[in-house]
Amino acid sequence: MAEDPDVVSRRIAKESLDRDDPTGWFENLYAAAAEGAAVVPWDRGTAHQLLIEWAEESQPDGAGKSALVVGAGTGWDAELIADRGYATTAFDISPTAVETARRNHPDSEVQYVVADLLNPPADWHRAFDLVVEIYTVQALPISLQPAAIKQVTELVGPGGTLLVVAAARPDDEPDEAIQGPPWPLTRATMHSFTTPDLRLIQLTQSPSPADPTISRWRGEYLRD
Ligand SMILES: C[S@@+](CC[C@H](N)C(=O)[O-])C[C@H]1O[C@@H](n2cnc3c(N)ncnc32)[C@H](O)[C@@H]1O
Repeated sequence: MAEDPDVVSRRIAKESLDRDDPTGWFENLYAAAAEGAAVVPWDRGTAHQLLIEWAEESQPDGAGKSALVVGAGTGWDAELIADRGYATTAFDISPTAVETARRNHPDSEVQYVVADLLNPPADWHRAFDLVVEIYTVQALPISLQPAAIKQVTELVGPGGTLLVVAAARPDDEPDEAIQGPPWPLTRATMHSFTTPDLRLIQLTQSPSPADPTISRWRGEYLRD
């Protein structure tokens, strides 16, 4: 009998993390999923509900503006942003994720590229009017999160918006208690996306409709 794809996903993550390779498992997982041997647990086949809600509330007009989608996976969030008129770039560390995104959206205007958030292209520095980060920081071990967060913030251009969606955990829950991936973010971590000129303008916490025991942050930040 074939192995449960969910079990395969967890094993792939564990093998990589045990080798002290915190990002290698993403490519292994997407490659196994492309062969039908695993499932990508976060691949919803649609944009994230909190991104849809943000777009409906904010009605952003992306005409003449640029957007960057971080850790874009198979591309559903990037497509929503492109549909709002933004010239959209979407990146992922996994080449197979990028290939899958291109295959999922053959007529897309989105530029899907392979890149590493922890070492992004220099010309992305403060280059985008909108940066969307959903579930990438929390997919990295807590020790890497401050560096990843700093890189996310450095992608937002002057006057630009940063939207962050992440699973939430209480501030008093110790890091050692979290058996990731994922490693959900505390309120303090959501506040750590701010800098003197990147202000938090809205932070909401809401339960997941699929599993009300899971709570998610939606943070919106604005660069002066
Ligand atoms: C939990 S998934 C979320 C994917 C997508 N944002 C979503 O919400 O469906 C995290 C994604 O980030 C990508 N990723 C992890 N580390 C990365 C890094 N250092 N640079 C770029 N992408 C990364 C993974 O390959 C994966 O697609």
